[in-house]
Amino acid sequence: GDTHKIRASLLDWYDENQRDLPWRRRRRTTTKSGNDKDVKEEEDEKRAYGVWVSEVMLQQTRVQTVIDYYNRWMQKWPTLQHLSQASLEEVNEMWAGLGYYRRARFLLEGAKMIVAEGSEFPNTVSALRKVPGIGDYTAGAIASIAFKQVVPVVDGNVVRVLARLKAISANPKDRLTVKNFWKLAAQLVDPLRPGDFNQSLMELGATLCIPLNPNCTSCPVSSQCRALCNSRNDESVMVTDY
Ligand code: ADE
Repeated sequence: GDTHKIRASLLDWYDENQRDLPWRRRRRTTTKSGNDKDVKEEEDEKRAYGVWVSEVMLQQTRVQTVIDYYNRWMQKWPTLQHLSQASLEEVNEMWAGLGYYRRARFLLEGAKMIVAEGSEFPNTVSALRKVPGIGDYTAGAIASIAFKQVVPVVDGNVVRVLARLKAISANPKDRLTVKNFWKLAAQLVDPLRPGDFNQSLMELGATLCIPLNPNCTSCPVSSQCRALCNSRNDESVMVTDY
């Protein structure tokens, strides 16, 4: 049905069009021998740290701005253990210009907590939610992207994409509305590639399914989109009020 088609179309589109962002790559490490065979792909648990840092930075800040901050941060504190040894002053200095300094403090406090409890990175939504500063959004992002847990992620972009796709007009600032979008996203998330699927929704909202004048002609799910379908019959060219 529609769900399978939407998943497949979004994932194919994402495979072709995803932006090359540093936190989407697994870092590679070479062991002492220098032998090619000893090049190791970063494990999920280590990758989770980079996904965490990037997702926190991406809240309220544009991707283009985040890239440099992310690279500098990961250079200074390449692992959770490194970060856990940092001071609040260092962390705030690194954060300068990103705003909402509470986010940086939470990263530091979270790193300290995870390391104090044995350094095992929490890998489920409920375990992640216990870390300071990790809310539903960040927990869903880390669990799905780093640990392949089949859980949804909803941010402002995802609300807009899903509202259009299903032609739901509702106030996105309303708590109940947002809850319903989490439910909808949970039904839609691809069971085999949850992290890529969630990122495809965010990516679509950031690049094509933008608030004004969405680029429906390039959209991979335009033929499933109820908002586009509805607006074809009237004067309005595109749906802009979600
Ligand atoms: N915005 C926030 N997180 C994102 C991600 N992982 N991919 C694309 N856009 C995002």
